[in-house]
Amino acid sequence: TSYETLLVENRGPVTLVTLNRPQALNALNSQVLSELLEVTRAFDVDASQGCMVVTGSGKAFAAGADIKEMQAQGFADMYGHDFFAGWDQFTRTRKPIIAAVAGYALGGGCELAMMCDFILAADTARFGQPEVKLAVSPGMGGSQRLTRAVGKAKAMEMCLTGRMMDAAEAERAGLVSRVVPAAELIEEAVKTATAIAGMAPLAVLANKEMVNAAFETGLQQGVQFERRLFHGLFGTEDQKEGMAAFVEKRPGQWKGK
Ligand code: HXC
Repeated sequence: TSYETLLVENRGPVTLVTLNRPQALNALNSQVLSELLEVTRAFDVDASQGCMVVTGSGKAFAAGADIKEMQAQGFADMYGHDFFAGWDQFTRTRKPIIAAVAGYALGGGCELAMMCDFILAADTARFGQPEVKLAVSPGMGGSQRLTRAVGKAKAMEMCLTGRMMDAAEAERAGLVSRVVPAAELIEEAVKTATAIAGMAPLAVLANKEMVNAAFETGLQQGVQFERRLFHGLFGTEDQKEGMAAFVEKRPGQWKGK
């Protein structure tokens, strides 16, 4: 399938998705959303694909939601059509998605990066929620996910002033898992995604689900959820294989069951 706003390529078991609206610094319009949802749905059910990487250009991961698309909309349009609700679908993807961010990740771009399971940043990455400058606010989860990621002080300052964080600050604050030189970003992201795709598939799903549960539950409930999923993995053939392979000092051969 070919897309107008995305480049999609399979690098072995990794689906590499590149946002491709350079004329608008990858601003996220309705078409980007619908194409991205189509790709993630296909990815989630494709047994040959184990991890996705979403990236942008060297200049911009994405400079936000598309301001030109939103400009003329009124409350009835936005609320009536629950504008941005489609992005919730993206977060329901069960397999892991890594955001590989170089350049600007602003507004909806920062929010999209935070909807991914973790963010790998190039040293050129800059994160911000500048919506207040447009007399609006984050609308794709930024006020919630940024606050959970970096705490109230930084999130509040960023949302109220629109100040950007550079890659080093983002790493110190826990927004990104690692910073790598810009020239190595894609290679490093694909390498990391390939490692994930090489793990037993059901264990990957369970690990993602339980880490995400930390954001939805209290500690005791979260620990219980983890333990039940952990118990469940002992019903898989891959658990037998994984532990046998360790004992026999060889790589595991996964069946995904
Ligand atoms: C639509 C955008 C855009 C956006 C950039 N462009 N960001 N178009 N929506 N979010 C377009 C510009 O209009 C311009 O098109 C082209 O991309 C290049 O951008 P420049 O501004 O010329 O580039 P530069 O001077 O290098 O500045 C880069 C920038 C700046 C600092 C990233 O573009 C910028 O501030 N962008 C907006 C960032 C922002 O406010 N994001 C939040 C959006 S609101 P032309 O046609 O002029 O060449 C959001 C959430 C909304 O995301 C939720 C509430 C509803």
